[in-house]
Amino acid sequence: MATQSNLIVSLWYANLLLVGCFSTFVTGITMKGEETDREALLAIKSQIRHDPLGVTNSWNNSVALCRWEGIICGRRHQRVTMLDLSHKRLTSTLSPYVGNLSFLRYIDLGDNSFHGFIPPEIGRLSRLQTLVLANNSFGGTIPANLSHCSSLTWFNANRNNLVQNIPIELGDLLKLETLAVAYNNLTGELPTSLGNISTLQHIYLRENHLRGRVPETLGHLKSQSI
Ligand SMILES: *[C@@H]1O[C@H](CO)[C@@H](O)[C@H](O)[C@H]1NC(C)=O
Ligand SMILES: *[C@@H]1O[C@H](CO)[C@@H](O)[C@H](O)[C@H]1NC(C)=O
Ligand SMILES: *[C@@H]1O[C@H](CO)[C@@H](O)[C@H](O)[C@H]1NC(C)=O
Ligand SMILES: *[C@@H]1O[C@H](CO)[C@@H](O)[C@H](O)[C@H]1NC(C)=O
Ligand SMILES: *[C@@H]1O[C@H](CO)[C@@H](O)[C@H](O)[C@H]1NC(C)=O
Ligand SMILES: *[C@@H]1O[C@H](CO)[C@@H](O)[C@H](O)[C@H]1NC(C)=O
Repeated sequence: MATQSNLIVSLWYANLLLVGCFSTFVTGITMKGEETDREALLAIKSQIRHDPLGVTNSWNNSVALCRWEGIICGRRHQRVTMLDLSHKRLTSTLSPYVGNLSFLRYIDLGDNSFHGFIPPEIGRLSRLQTLVLANNSFGGTIPANLSHCSSLTWFNANRNNLVQNIPIELGDLLKLETLAVAYNNLTGELPTSLGNISTLQHIYLRENHLRGRVPETLGHLKSQSI
């Protein structure tokens, strides 16, 4: 009898120990993730040359990460899921560290003065659904690596200075519903691979230097401006 209750007690302690180890382990992972997010956002902040509205003032170590302006975290984990810096009169380039915010579902940088390249590291964001870069001065090409954002439904890069072809690889974005790249300096042909995207409903291409015809497979579009 006594040995049995001893056994139960020691099992109970072993259990406690296990639970303790496990939660330390989980907390460790969570904190590591949070630290990666913090580092990434501070890298993004460090590239901002002009922030007249003081949006990123709260991006400092005395404020909890999930309370930083323009940031929303997931409810279960304290990881950044939304980055909304739209209409903030920011002058900046976009740090490649953005690709480390691995829980991001939503990025809106619309209507600022972002310039430089769209970092190909964005291709690491497999949960990203919305990417709005419209009304900025992004130059260079649309990175082919964007094709790895397999959850992407909405890509709006209207009104930038993007050049060269629309990458063939964008045909891999099998959940894409809106492709808006009007008012850029894109050239070449519209890739026929876009015809592979059965979800595509809206496509905006006007005011570029694109050649060729819209693939017949895109006949089901709800709206287009080409
Ligand atoms: C951190 O952000 C808060 C909220 O915006 C601000 O009041 C505080 O002055 C900031 N601290 C530093 C050191 O910038
Ligand atoms: C984050 O991304 C940068 C640049 O893309 C990389 O050099 C760095 O090692 C990454 N850091 C972490 C903590 O993942
Ligand atoms: C970009 O500017 C156009 C024209 O000024 C405006 O209609 C559109 O809503 C703006 N979009 C974003 C995302 O700021
Ligand atoms: C391109 O995307 C892949 C897949 O997400 C990623 O492993 C790779 O690091 C990205 N390339 C760059 C230059 O970031
Ligand atoms: C875009 O194209 C126009 C006309 O072809 C040209 O004048 C302008 O310099 C180009 N802009 C960029 C950023 O390449
Ligand atoms: C996607 O489109 C390209 C070009 O139209 C075609 O060669 C390829 O077989 C298509 N892939 C799939 C999976 O449908």
